Amino acid sequence: MTVTILSAVFGWGIAQNKFVVDVAKPISKIQPTMWGVFFEDINFGADGGLYAELIKNRSFEFIKPLMGWEVLNGNNEDVLILNRVRENPKNPRFAHISIKQGQKPLGLSNEGFRAMGVKQGVGYSFSLQARVKSGQKGMIRGELVGADGSTIGNASLEIAGTDWKTYKVEFKCSKTDPKAHFIVWFEKEGTYDVDMISLFPQDTWKGRPGGLRRDLVQLLADMKPGFIRFPGGCIVEGRNLANRYQWKNTVGPIDQRQVIMNRWNTEFAHKPTPDYFQSFGLGFYEYFQLAEDIGAEPLPIINCGMACQFNSAETVDTSDLGTYVQDALDLIEFANGELNTKWGRLRGKMGHAAPFHLKMMGIGNENWGPQYLTRLKIFTDAIHEKYPHIKFVNSSGTDPSGDRFDFLNTRLREMHADIIDEHYYRNPSWFLANARRYDNYPRNGSKVFAGEYAAQSDKIASPDNKNNWECALSEAAFMTGLERNAAVVSMASYAPLFAHIDAWQWTPDLIWFDNLKAYGTPNYYVQKLFSINKGTEVVPITLNSDVVAGQDSLYATACVDEHTNELIIKFVNASGVATQNEFDLKGVTRGSGVVTITTLKSDNLNQCNSLEHPDAIAPVNQDFNQNGNNLKLEAAPYSLTVIRIALK
Ligand code: AHR
Repeated sequence: MTVTILSAVFGWGIAQNKFVVDVAKPISKIQPTMWGVFFEDINFGADGGLYAELIKNRSFEFIKPLMGWEVLNGNNEDVLILNRVRENPKNPRFAHISIKQGQKPLGLSNEGFRAMGVKQGVGYSFSLQARVKSGQKGMIRGELVGADGSTIGNASLEIAGTDWKTYKVEFKCSKTDPKAHFIVWFEKEGTYDVDMISLFPQDTWKGRPGGLRRDLVQLLADMKPGFIRFPGGCIVEGRNLANRYQWKNTVGPIDQRQVIMNRWNTEFAHKPTPDYFQSFGLGFYEYFQLAEDIGAEPLPIINCGMACQFNSAETVDTSDLGTYVQDALDLIEFANGELNTKWGRLRGKMGHAAPFHLKMMGIGNENWGPQYLTRLKIFTDAIHEKYPHIKFVNSSGTDPSGDRFDFLNTRLREMHADIIDEHYYRNPSWFLANARRYDNYPRNGSKVFAGEYAAQSDKIASPDNKNNWECALSEAAFMTGLERNAAVVSMASYAPLFAHIDAWQWTPDLIWFDNLKAYGTPNYYVQKLFSINKGTEVVPITLNSDVVAGQDSLYATACVDEHTNELIIKFVNASGVATQNEFDLKGVTRGSGVVTITTLKSDNLNQCNSLEHPDAIAPVNQDFNQNGNNLKLEAAPYSLTVIRIALK
């Protein structure tokens, strides 16, 4: 079914629905932050995902030090895991390898994150920290091995000296393989101490050594997100306080970033991933840099002194909250401080002398109860005293309704909270029914951040939960309500963002990937279409003088983009029949001009995208030259249509 816009020819006769768009009556500004992304290290989103390191457990700090490694031509006595905790408390373990005279080369084979995806013609950097005995000339060879056992890359390093040194060599890969692995061969007799064994592709985002996967960042950049919220999510809270996210452990030299267990490691019985840890190679510096690269405002979330209330619910006594508050203050200094401050200096040393212009910060993730409010107030007072312009994002708990929500929503508004974060993981009907959720929210009070939402086709996180068109379309319908209420809603982001096809824990997710490829779900395209067609001011669009929020399963919002002088209508037909629609544009005299129509649709509500069919549902653009103030649109069944209309 095609979507057609007809100006002079009324091919289908009389319109069923007549909409009025009053271009000259802006209702409210749309914040540049309106549509953003929320990144959490879940589903192998960071290690094994965005962070392009191919070696799993490179520093032997997983609970089982040789997890991910296999010893070849040797036994456990040849590979000893030593601990130098006094010398190197953040990264204490290393491997001590002994090769006797006449012994075959010993190999340490790394399986990668569900194997390694490597590409023909791409350069790879193999590096490690090593030392050998005095007078010894060691030889280490890195071998990239394809799924069929053939060598597809090779490079050797000579090792000498009793002090720890970093050795690095580069080689080209001769064959594309989604399931490669890497063997570190110790080729000459002697003893070797090794740590931080690393293999990185050189085709990272912006070619940064030790950087991020280019294809995944590109998918984010293509969305033109207004903000990026990081690093979580429940990962901020930790299952207990020891397991919480501590940003200071994620900055500075990568060998000094203390590896910890990822809290999603064994959270779900349906998908235990005991090999899921956080190396923090993607840490707070890299998050800020990523935000800058993709033009998004950074929104870091910090622990408020409370661990996940679904897990241990450990809570810091208020008398001990000082270090937590100091972490928040220091984070602002790290992001914005002068180079003569302690944390600003570290940022400069890491390569970014200019500030990151941090403007907002989240205190806590899905925390709830009076204990949250007590801690929140301590944070807010202390931070505002030093940084009065920082805006705070506050939690309203885990659900968009119920006692916990009502309590926090009321109290936070009494406290004049800047921005209240609401989360909704609900079925598609809820999203359709809630397109008017914000119509009656107070206009002058706290703003809303729809910080985590996703329509669920099945139970949250279940293997049967799908990123299907029904879910994506219901989100689109709901999002028209967010945009119409931009006076209240200043930010929104889908959750979670990424999932590795072989290593996920949670469904549904916006972007799926394996070790070589990635695709956007229909939900991704919905997010992208709203974001790249954001506009600057909401204008009224009405049907029989009412907002368009579910009448005959139609949903719509309209805005103008004052930069391009266009009117943008987002129109959702959530019914299974085509509808004939007419738009009367008031308050503007249109001459001739281009009308661009982008359609996202499928006849099949169960349709999903996949690695094999990444564009089964994808936007299609059509341009028309069209004059006058009366537009007609036939909206296909189950469709989202974005109409951009040049105004003059
Ligand atoms: O997005 C997945 C999880 O859902 C987040 O970590 C948490 O905030 C929410 O419960």
